[in-house]
Amino acid sequence: LSATPAASIAAAAGSPFVRACRRQTVPHTPVWFMRQAGRSLPEYRSLRGDGSILAAIADPAVAAEATVQPVRRYGVDAAILFSDIVVPVHAVGFGVDVVPGQGPVVERPFRSASDLTRLRPLEPAVDSPYVAEAVRLAVAELAPSKVPLIGFAGAPFTVASYLVEGGPSRTFARVKSLMHAEPGLWTALLDRLASMAVAFLTAQVEAGAAAVQLFDSWAGWLAPYEYEQWVLPATRQVLERVASLGVPTILFGVGTGELLGLMGGAGADVVGVDWRVPLDQARRRGGGGRAVQGNLDPALCVGPWPVTEAAARRVLEEAGTEPGHVFNLGHGVLPETDPGILAELVALVHAEGRAGVTEGGRTAVAG
Ligand code: CP3
Repeated sequence: LSATPAASIAAAAGSPFVRACRRQTVPHTPVWFMRQAGRSLPEYRSLRGDGSILAAIADPAVAAEATVQPVRRYGVDAAILFSDIVVPVHAVGFGVDVVPGQGPVVERPFRSASDLTRLRPLEPAVDSPYVAEAVRLAVAELAPSKVPLIGFAGAPFTVASYLVEGGPSRTFARVKSLMHAEPGLWTALLDRLASMAVAFLTAQVEAGAAAVQLFDSWAGWLAPYEYEQWVLPATRQVLERVASLGVPTILFGVGTGELLGLMGGAGADVVGVDWRVPLDQARRRGGGGRAVQGNLDPALCVGPWPVTEAAARRVLEEAGTEPGHVFNLGHGVLPETDPGILAELVALVHAEGRAGVTEGGRTAVAG
């Protein structure tokens, strides 16, 4: 492991991905895919076998290899660490497992103030040292290609939703009930999860992650007043504390069309958008001053290619020519996606993206 974390972060500052996050000019539109590491890749399936995903995450060599696989396969402009949003709560012993085809499942859901004792502060070096080790291995592997690594954490609300509901939910009835009925307990829960997210993200950046994404996947199930009152403060706290690390931050959620104004003010450099809001409108709703990431419908990546191509061209059109677009899907890659289609998609975005793209890479690097 040659380069220091600080050196790899400095090197990443010139990458198209980091430059687009900062709304600087780029030689081509950068692209990566949420859930690019995963079951759509045959090499991932053979690496992983049938074991628990939390065990794979806790094995730095396996996690680093799963992180780098999509870069080799697709030529994407960023890698995302192979991990999960429930790793910190799992690491402090809250009692979480991840069930294949279902998602996180909690043995004893969060119900009352006494459950706060099961959420002690995360000490990454002691509780989850395998995360920083996987980051270091992946960053070393990526160094020759100069592809930056994105670290990530679950946002307080989305992690809380699993802890309170006990697993995936369609209604979020229990978590909404707790938020409305016991605002003091709710705030205490979100404060703890915010601190854990900061610790988790800091450890990843200190190990060499060149950007971070906060996944608030289920925030779109909230009304704007709920988001503003009970979720935004803890989210903002995470983003503000992470900002001092000096790497770009991305805030993403699904179904957040009505929340984009609030999310744009949460402190992230980039706002992730799903496929429901055209990017030109998303840029306006985000209040300007932020880059956007997205937003091809993952369902349209299943193919056939002409369907994917037409939809991708529409996204590029809506992204326009102003700097600050990171191409992505509107949510994660579906397991049934043909990897060949995603490889073609990367080539199309590199050739046709126009947001902040200058003629010839050299001018771009100076811009
Ligand atoms: O490629 C990447 O995006 C990096 C790895 C990554 C995983 N989880 C690995 C994983 C990332 C960024 C996550 C984040 C995550 N985990 C989120 C936020 C992103 C989103 O999708 O909104 C959420 C909500 C979770 C919780 C979670 N973990 C769910 C809902 C599932 C799916 C269950 C299933 O099997 O469909 C998981 C499991 C999981 N995490 C898988 C992967 C690759 C799939 C299961 C496996 O390979 O065993």
